[in-house]
Amino acid sequence: MIRVTLAINGETRSASVPPETTLLRLLREHFILTGAKLGCDVGDCGACTVIMDGQAVNACLVLAGQADGREVLTIEGLATRDRLHPLQHAFEKHAALQCGFCGPGVILAAKALLDENPQPTVPEIRDALAGNLCRCTGYTKMIDAVNEAARAMRSEQPARHLHRKPN
Ligand code: FES
Ligand code: FES
Repeated sequence: MIRVTLAINGETRSASVPPETTLLRLLREHFILTGAKLGCDVGDCGACTVIMDGQAVNACLVLAGQADGREVLTIEGLATRDRLHPLQHAFEKHAALQCGFCGPGVILAAKALLDENPQPTVPEIRDALAGNLCRCTGYTKMIDAVNEAARAMRSEQPARHLHRKPN
């Protein structure tokens, strides 16, 4: 067994697991964070996407030991208690998901993109979501939702600034 300690959604969590345990199984089976989905388990579908140290990763391809000491964001950590993340809000508004299985992975892949590139082009959005397979939608509404969330997030920046107290 190996001991791993990592920050998940801002909270320090530890577990002792067999060394072959993936980050996906650590999240789902040890911490009961089931938002990241087990799809292909071989890095092909993106259903298990989480953000680790700012990068979107396929949690089925990361060993739990490789996540030791890292910061991981899962879909459970995206909304605040009383407010959806702008991406979640936009996906809901555009009805961009159907069965929803791919949703957590798609939304986190989009978040990693917007954190790095707040004003992506449509090809850049398509590129960022290329590793996330969806069997239900045609992706068009997802692209529209990411575009709208990007706009909303950009317009929130100055608003936050305005509310800052003067020095
Ligand atoms: Fe990880 Fe498919 S379950 S990429
Ligand atoms: Fe069903 Fe994407 S909404 S797989």
